[in-house]
Amino acid sequence: MKAQRLGVNVDHVATLRNARGEAYPDPVAAALLAIAAGADGITIHLREDRRHIRDADVPAMKAGIDKPLNFEMAATEEMVEIALAVRPHACCIVPEKRTEVTTEGGLDVVGHEVALRGIVGRLKAAGIRVSMFVDPDPVQLRASAAIGADIVELHTGGYAHGAAGELERLVAAARLTAELGLECHAGHGLTFDNVAPVAAIAEVVELNIGHFLIGQAVFDGLPAVVRRMKALMVAARAG
Ligand code: PXP
Repeated sequence: MKAQRLGVNVDHVATLRNARGEAYPDPVAAALLAIAAGADGITIHLREDRRHIRDADVPAMKAGIDKPLNFEMAATEEMVEIALAVRPHACCIVPEKRTEVTTEGGLDVVGHEVALRGIVGRLKAAGIRVSMFVDPDPVQLRASAAIGADIVELHTGGYAHGAAGELERLVAAARLTAELGLECHAGHGLTFDNVAPVAAIAEVVELNIGHFLIGQAVFDGLPAVVRRMKALMVAARAG
């Protein structure tokens, strides 16, 4: 089975920083600790309202780490221009509503094929790998392949909240993603307790995990938490 990468999302280090308007805790410092503990990449989401990651964090993160940077972004002209200026390793296109507390559902690729095709083309022309954050729905996977995406990231939020049949949907979606010739990632709501079944899906080569890791780091420290998550992933794939 292919090795599986852990992308650590450090958005909520910035949430904590912004709560007091100080310069600490620093998301780049957190990213470096996570990498030293085994993270294979770092993920950040510059939301339209800048509630956690802010504009200056994006080039600072790109310059500060020596592992791939995955930039989550809404499909807007403003975000495309930032991505083209910073040139992260990958961009993950996510849906965004100002009123949501987190990314609640997958992107509707089918409903926005024309606009998304243009964005994917511009990002890929700049050498950036492009991912679509979608629900484990065959229609959205096929549309992602049709518009030229390199990767789909499967939204694991339904599974994490215990929705019936969601693990089976993820397994089937991962298989179809590979058949369509796309790389398969997964994430959202993953914890020590629920990560193993998703980590065990052979086609899923990257998990992106944030909120739980940063929260648990308050108790155990970020390096210990990253090491434990990585170990759980490795154990799940070893069967
Ligand atoms: N993947 C994507 C595309 C996301 O938007 C998020 C949340 O920012 C995650 C993964 C990580 O989710 P969580 O913070 O629940 O681990």
